[in-house]
Amino acid sequence: MLANIAVLVSGGGTNLQALLNAQGTVLKSGAIRVVISDNPDAYALTRAANCGVDAYTAKNEAEIIRLLEQYNTDLIVLAGFLRILSADFTRKYANRIINIHPSLIPAFCGKGFYGLKVHRAALDSGVKITGATVHFVNEIPDGGKIIDQKAVRIHDADTPETLQQRVMEQAEWILLPRAAEKVCKQLIKEKRK
Ligand code: GRF
Repeated sequence: MLANIAVLVSGGGTNLQALLNAQGTVLKSGAIRVVISDNPDAYALTRAANCGVDAYTAKNEAEIIRLLEQYNTDLIVLAGFLRILSADFTRKYANRIINIHPSLIPAFCGKGFYGLKVHRAALDSGVKITGATVHFVNEIPDGGKIIDQKAVRIHDADTPETLQQRVMEQAEWILLPRAAEKVCKQLIKEKRK
């Protein structure tokens, strides 16, 4: 039995790609059944199509929920999904939504910390280590229980762009499939009871 995964995206989808590539190896307990974007131009939609995964654009939470139900979703993975989900939504799917954030939470997170802004804040602060975090999603942005983290060293010559790339390569793309597997395994165990 596999857990049914829905991946929510807004942009380029390199984390989605990491999940797609991990299917059958690192990600053994779940399968990506559907990709949902709030942005019709997201390249992530093309990545899904290239792998034969159903992909849709949804304009609001009601449309997202309809798709999640259509695909009997067990786990929702936010992979570069920029919209903040309502408390009603996060309550409905409590412990079934995970997100990847490109810093070591509780540093550089919360409302307004997304994309390059996170890495700019890390560089401005002078810290020498940053990284990525996978956490459960609740009504507080970046506030849910932490599932796993991975550290990445900051270099003196880093720009927000070079740091973003290193955090993706050394942390996000490794961490997210691993965390998705951990949660899927648990969800299947509960389903079998
Ligand atoms: C990643 O840095 C992720 O941590 C953040 O948004 C970015 C999305 O990148 N939440 P991609 O769309 O997966 O390439």
